[in-house]
Amino acid sequence: MSLSDAGTEANPFLDPLRFDRPAPACVVVIFGANGDLTKRKLLPALYSLTRDRRLSPGFAVVGISRTALSDDAFRDKMREAVTQFSESGPPEAGIWDAFAQGLYYEAGNFDDPAMYTRLAGRLGDIAQARQTGGNVLYYLSTQPSFYAVAAGQLSAAGLTRASEGWRRLIVEKPFGRDLDSARRLNLDLQRFFPETGIYRIDHYLGKETVQNILAFRFGNGIFEPLWNRGYIQHVQITAAESIGVEGRGAYYEESGALRDMIQNHLLQVLATIAMEPPGRFDAAAVRDERSKVLRAIRPLTRDDVATEAVAGQYGPARLGGRDLPGYRQEPGVKPDSIANTYAAVTFSIDNWRWAGVPFYLRTGKRLPKRVTEIAIQFAPAPLPLFDHTGAQPNLLILRIQPEEGISLKFQSKSPGAGMHLRGVSMDFNYGSSFGAGLPSAYETLLLDAIEGDATLYTRQDMVEASWQAVEPILEVWSNARADFPNYASGTWGPEAADRMLAHRGHQWRRP
Ligand code: BG6
Repeated sequence: MSLSDAGTEANPFLDPLRFDRPAPACVVVIFGANGDLTKRKLLPALYSLTRDRRLSPGFAVVGISRTALSDDAFRDKMREAVTQFSESGPPEAGIWDAFAQGLYYEAGNFDDPAMYTRLAGRLGDIAQARQTGGNVLYYLSTQPSFYAVAAGQLSAAGLTRASEGWRRLIVEKPFGRDLDSARRLNLDLQRFFPETGIYRIDHYLGKETVQNILAFRFGNGIFEPLWNRGYIQHVQITAAESIGVEGRGAYYEESGALRDMIQNHLLQVLATIAMEPPGRFDAAAVRDERSKVLRAIRPLTRDDVATEAVAGQYGPARLGGRDLPGYRQEPGVKPDSIANTYAAVTFSIDNWRWAGVPFYLRTGKRLPKRVTEIAIQFAPAPLPLFDHTGAQPNLLILRIQPEEGISLKFQSKSPGAGMHLRGVSMDFNYGSSFGAGLPSAYETLLLDAIEGDATLYTRQDMVEASWQAVEPILEVWSNARADFPNYASGTWGPEAADRMLAHRGHQWRRP
């Protein structure tokens, strides 16, 4: 067990009955209850968990935000949100009514001590009325500048510790905007909550298909012997989105794609692909291995950044009969903005398993389609015996979304005379194999936090290691003159991203 996981609660993964009974009763306090995340993800996830009887009947939510709102008005708003955003359709009347009775609202400023005094009263009343045993999960989904403020105020109001039950804190991304600010935020939060009580969320880790990478790698014996530099030539991790910044121009001006997607989501996916097998499946062992591999990423030098990292920004285009604005024409964006909406990076991992294997990561807005996948390209057969015209490399494709599944591409003899090879595919699809829809990442992660299971949450050392990996790129890019826009909406990004692979003789896949 690593030092920072010492004191983690009993390991729920070792409890085979964990999912056969509802999670412990608790109150989830959401800071930023009027925000988009609450409407689009959190409330739909909590409602789905209730409908699936994952939560105890006493479960409650307190929404906190500045706008004045009664409990009933909050319930109405949340019903609308669940109707609009729940993937499993509108709420069912009976279930919704019971769920809604546990929804409360408190208006106030996050830096106002009086608000926390009122919250303390609320939590006391709810604990009694709904028998929540004093368990409280705080969810920070506010402006990041309020994270430390809210944690400090909770502590000052005596709300971070309880004589009965547990107190935990979920922190949304972005976790800092560089290594320095992430370190400061860690120190600030750890003044008020123990590391074991801090759950830094990265919703990619909660995706079924990302969790399935662990099942695929460590639940099977046949892949592990191939999972190294001896057989794998390179790895491509793509998270493409067809949408633009969609009203989040002001946020993108500050963040950009490298911070928004690569520092967190894609590096966590890389860690899941590249980590060593943990000795046990628990939070400490799994996070130790993820952390080790993130720390083994070789920092790029300033010179490396020129060849191993590419920034892009989308320009205007006419697509499907519609005129789409370029990023610089989006609301909240400066007309000469140098923010990146596309980023591609080659990472090298300095350890025995991966030395010499490039990990190519790319993400972008306004690419031709929404697709997230990992493509693992194996080395070619050592001696070509057959006509290789048209042959394709051996690829293992882990499809994270959409069309979730796994494909293995290999060569087959084309029927007929001669030994002509053609690429074919062995496919696994979630839909056809399991039938049922996949739970959302937020359902999985909220339930885990309520259970006290931090396996799929990031830890201080992981967050800092991933900032360390992108920091040299951020530094170079913040001082560089960018020739933007450099890709048209609806294309696969700037040409420089192709050159980034070409200098090693590799090519991006077109998913
Ligand atoms: C968020 C980013 O964290 O992830 C967004 O801020 C991005 O810009 C989103 O669109 C992608 O998530 P998903 O689950 O749709 O792949």
